[in-house]
Formats: sequence, C-alpha cells, structure tokens
Amino acid sequence: MIQRPRNDLILIKRVFPSFDEIEFIKAGAQRLVYKIKDKEAVWVLKLVQLKQDNQDESQGKGVQRQIEGRLERELRIQREARTVNTIVHLGPHPVKRVLLAKLPYFSYTEQYLDGNDLRALIRDNVKPSFNELANLTLHILEAIGFLWQKRCVHRDIKPGNIMRIQGRKARYVLLDIGYALALSEDSLSKNGLIPGTLKYMSPEQLDVKRKRSLDLRSDIYSLGITVLEYACGKHPYIQDGDTTTNITRAILYTRCPTLKSQRNDLSSDFCSLVDTFVNKQPHLRPARIGQVRQEISNLVKTHRR
Ligand SMILES: Nc1ncnc2c1ncn2[C@@H]1O[C@H](COP(=O)(O)OP(=O)(O)O)[C@@H](O)[C@H]1O
Ligand SMILES: [Mg+2]
Repeated sequence: MIQRPRNDLILIKRVFPSFDEIEFIKAGAQRLVYKIKDKEAVWVLKLVQLKQDNQDESQGKGVQRQIEGRLERELRIQREARTVNTIVHLGPHPVKRVLLAKLPYFSYTEQYLDGNDLRALIRDNVKPSFNELANLTLHILEAIGFLWQKRCVHRDIKPGNIMRIQGRKARYVLLDIGYALALSEDSLSKNGLIPGTLKYMSPEQLDVKRKRSLDLRSDIYSLGITVLEYACGKHPYIQDGDTTTNITRAILYTRCPTLKSQRNDLSSDFCSLVDTFVNKQPHLRPARIGQVRQEISNLVKTHRR
C-alpha cells in the first residue's frame, strides 16, 4: 500500500484549483484514490507515485519505466472503453505529472462509481443471490471480451478490482486496467515485477515461459475464482496467511471445490458453468464469451419464470 502524503488534501487543492470537496477514499496497492467535485460532476482522482527522477539505480529506473508504460497502456485502453459500461471510464481532465510534497505523481481522473468493491462486500459477509452472481459473471465477461478484442488480457481480475454499483439492479464494473498487456508488446515482467495478485492468478500465469501466450482464458479463470469467493465468502482453496509457496502449489495442484457443494441453493447449470472457468487446464475452460453469456442469460430467464 502506498503512503498518503501529509496535508494531501491541501496540496491537491493547490495543484488542482478547480477541484472542490476533495475526499480521501483509499490507498491502493499502487495508487491513492480521492473523490473530487468540479463544476460538472463528481470524479475520482487517482495519483500514482513515481520514483524521483534523480534515482540512479538501474533496477529502479527499469521498474519506473514499466510502471509508466503500464499506465499509458491502461489509459489508452480505458479511453477506448467508452462504449462499454462494464469498464471504468476516464474523466475529461488532462493526465498530468504533479509534485506533492516534492514527490512526483502521475494523475488522472475517472468516473466516480457509487458503490462498493467486491472485497469490501465479501468482508461484510454479503451473501449474493443467483441474480447477483449471474450479473457479476455476465458483466465482467463483457469487460474481458472487450479487452480481448483489443488483444489484451487484464491479468489482475480480483474482488478489489470490481465495483458493484449501488442500486437494485446490480451492475459490476472492472477497475485497474493497468496490467492489461497488449500481446504485441514486450513482456512486462523483465524487471521481476509479476503482474497480478497471486491468489487469483491462473496456473499458466505462474509459468514464466508461457507468459507471452496468455489469452482471455486466464482472465476467465480469475473471474471464476472471484465468483466463487463472492458466492462462498472465502477463497475456494487458499486460506488467509498461506505462504507464497503454499499458494503457488495450491494454484497448480489443489482441486477447486465445486460451487454447488457450497451453495446448494444456486442453479446446478450455473454452478457447473462457473466450475469450468477454474479448470487448471486452459483448454478445458470456455473461451467463447458470447456463447457463455448467452447461456447465463438463458439461465437467468428460466430462473425468473
Ligand atoms: N472510479 C472509482 N470509483 C469509486 N471507487 C473507486 C474507483 N476506483 C477505485 N476505487 C476504489 O479504490 C480502490 C483501489 O483502486 P484501484 O484503481 O484498484 O487501485 P490499485 O491499483 O492501487 O489497487 C478500489 O478497490 C475501490 O474500492
Ligand atoms: Mg486495484
């Protein structure tokens, strides 16, 4: 988690005089998230801390370039995602580098999503209904499909990167497009940064040699784990406090318990479908997004009757 600078609200106001009512939301793994208001609407301001320019360690610089490259990619894809409402949209403010308390940050804005991230909902022991789970799956599959059309894999689909928008009819939106890797571009991990959060990584993501051949099925796997965790209130096969070695071993070898065995109230067809998402072998997972979404929509219709 990154450090929040002292007097950040005052400093931000100084750098962005047109922003009012600046409110701190969260320090994420890589960025500070604020809620701000301008004449138009409410937005989210994201600040990504950059290393100081005078840092001369080559490792630091390499990682730095990686972070900046990743951000540029994230923003480019996010800009193109304006037609999809399951991926967070960028705000109209220009992207800029700013200094706060002498530290450099990269800043940009996004639409403010009024709701909760799934991590918070899971922590609060929310037990989602079939409709909620079906919507989560439908919406995030749409986002994965959009990214894949751009030949990108998100690589970090997990509860903390999905927002549930407030409202009676659930809408789920994918955040943090930062790790999305355009397959034509160079591997991001040359400097030893492994993109993604270990607990939600697909088995093939752990395999350095196969990294370049990742495809949308890797994201489908991570979505499957996320759906299972949301449905059951806990990760299907990793306990809190497990060591990296244990987590890695579990991802590669532990059989994932079926959704039906833990949520007997849910449709068997839906459960079997989600179970296929988390297959250890990519070729045993579904890869045709349109078809899977259609199957889920049909199940939702049958459920309504
Ligand atoms: N556009 C947004 N609207 C509302 N809350 C947001 C928004 N973006 C992020 N958040 C909140 O901030 C948290 C961290 O944001 P994220 O972009 O995922 O940063 P990080 O890469 O540091 O994890 C999210 O889990 C969510 O709770
Ligand atoms: Mg995140």
